[in-house]
Amino acid sequence: MQLDFLGDLKRTHTCGALRASDAGSTVVVMGWVNRRRDLGNLIFVDLRDRTGLTQVVFNAEQSKAIHEKASTLRSEFVIAVTGSVKKREPNTINKNIPTGEIEVVASELRILNEAKTPPFSPSDDATSTIANEETRLKYRYIDLRRPQMQANIELRHKVALAIRNDLAARGFFEIETPFMTRSTPEGARDYLVPSRVHPGQFYALPQSPQLFKQILMISGFDKYFQIVRCFRDEDLRADRQPEFTQIDLEMTFPQQERVFEVVEGFLTAAFKAAGHDLKTPFPRMTYDQAIAQYGSDKPDLRLPAMTDVRETFTPEQLATLQIDSSLPVMCVRVPKVGELSRKERDEIKTLASNKNGAKILEDFKRLEKSFPEAVAKIREKCGAQADDLMVLVAGGTTPQPHPSEGGVKPEVKQHDHAVFTAAGALRLALAQKYAEKHKLFERSGDTDKDFRWLWVTDFPMFEYDAEGGRWAAAHHPFTSPHEQDLISGKLESDPGAVRALAYDVVLNGTELGSGSIRIHQQEIQKQIFRALGMTDEEARSRFGFFLEALEYGTPPHGGIALGLDRIVMILAGGDSLREVIPFPKTAQAKDLMVDAPTPVSEAQLKELGIAVRHER
Ligand code: AMO
Repeated sequence: MQLDFLGDLKRTHTCGALRASDAGSTVVVMGWVNRRRDLGNLIFVDLRDRTGLTQVVFNAEQSKAIHEKASTLRSEFVIAVTGSVKKREPNTINKNIPTGEIEVVASELRILNEAKTPPFSPSDDATSTIANEETRLKYRYIDLRRPQMQANIELRHKVALAIRNDLAARGFFEIETPFMTRSTPEGARDYLVPSRVHPGQFYALPQSPQLFKQILMISGFDKYFQIVRCFRDEDLRADRQPEFTQIDLEMTFPQQERVFEVVEGFLTAAFKAAGHDLKTPFPRMTYDQAIAQYGSDKPDLRLPAMTDVRETFTPEQLATLQIDSSLPVMCVRVPKVGELSRKERDEIKTLASNKNGAKILEDFKRLEKSFPEAVAKIREKCGAQADDLMVLVAGGTTPQPHPSEGGVKPEVKQHDHAVFTAAGALRLALAQKYAEKHKLFERSGDTDKDFRWLWVTDFPMFEYDAEGGRWAAAHHPFTSPHEQDLISGKLESDPGAVRALAYDVVLNGTELGSGSIRIHQQEIQKQIFRALGMTDEEARSRFGFFLEALEYGTPPHGGIALGLDRIVMILAGGDSLREVIPFPKTAQAKDLMVDAPTPVSEAQLKELGIAVRHER
């Protein structure tokens, strides 16, 4: 096909711009052929760009040549059209699109490029027929033309820009930190970069800029932020990518409330950019409360809390039910589920992922027959409605293993914790199972109901790593313990009871961000490394530079990092990060479009002093 050149033709309007008030003007529009319809003497083309669609008409009665040329157009051809804007006849107005009152009657057509028939059509109405995700990712450039993807990427841009502007206005400097660095301890494996100049030595891509941002505080930058790519080699899930973007910030001399205020501020700006007005401050809850009421450290507040209903039963009744009376009896309520079949009730038991000896009572009707008074009290206590699903989770009288979940306050016993988390896991599994059918999480348009925020505070400092037989940092080892817990000597006497000045910001049950007030005194930092089972030698060899920096006048400081991808995913109403990252990796950490990772040539390996071993 003979293609035309753009020459000096200038676009006057994008495809979403023209309105009835433009009727009569001569315009130049450019874009992709979304659809062509042939009606004899008239050919209609929907021209598409990222701003929308414009209907172009090629009329044989006006110009045979141009009509003929238009008849060669296929989907995804790139064209430029000069023409005059005309109001549509009332019966042909398309109320669904902003340009629906007009059409452009073409007087010139330039075919700037042709296109092969794409593996799937990016036009809006084809969304339901879009091929499997592998095809979408392989042909990502076509997938990204889909209006939904264009909207998601635009949303991402707006959100990031709003955050950047908000933080800059609060006096934060955006400062870049290196990508080629050494390992940072965020709990995942590192992606390594071999050094050619130093054979056998490796840089690590940062799992986060944690130590650099702390060093920036030591350097006196006062308020730092960065919208920054981080890299983690970990098992992938829908809300995890090997490279992802953090909104990372750090400040000097803050109490944690000051960090909350800044985060609430930029989130308000980000959500405003997406058309939602947030109310601040967000509610706060301690880790212990979250576990006791939701069985999770990232509670989804869109569902009711669980209630301990042990007191509604007599000891004899608990014995009859084979329930351990020394443990909580948690009532899980999922609204609007309605009647369940026998089979569905049986399935509930298999949903309790952490059964660990937990006793599940899912048949409330039967329970009601045997214990009408107790059940009436439970219903009242939990505020149950007739169509709510109610399940009790308790400790069975068969002895429970005491899982080393560690790091819980002494008054929340380990085995209470096991009942709470078993009930919490069931609560979520049930909600997920019935969410679609009963529209549990459907957006109502009410921002306060659709976006349920929460700060979770006072995380435990350590978690017990049963496999390694030692304590591990629950957040990271630079997190400061509560001052009182240091003063009372708990670090040595009862590490599991030490609370950290660590906090998470949670939205609808997803952890959006984590942060902490940091340790700024070298002696305490060393104590923490020791509590983590690291010898002074090991600590020096891994973090020597940092321990040294702490000796040169380190101010108290703290900060947080939020996942930008997760924020945009929730705003876009999606359930996978791949929908809001332009070029994501698959669950197998592959980029299907560029086909990465790939083997490299023997020569490249040799230069790096690397030999590949194929056995694992
Ligand atoms: P953390 O490891 O909790 O904290 O990470 C902070 C936030 O980053 C996001 N996130 C991810 N998003 C997508 N894919 C991933 N693989 C992934 N991993 C993490 C989450 C998470 O809440 N340096 C500390 C922060 C600090 O203490 O200031 C840190 O990185 O939304």
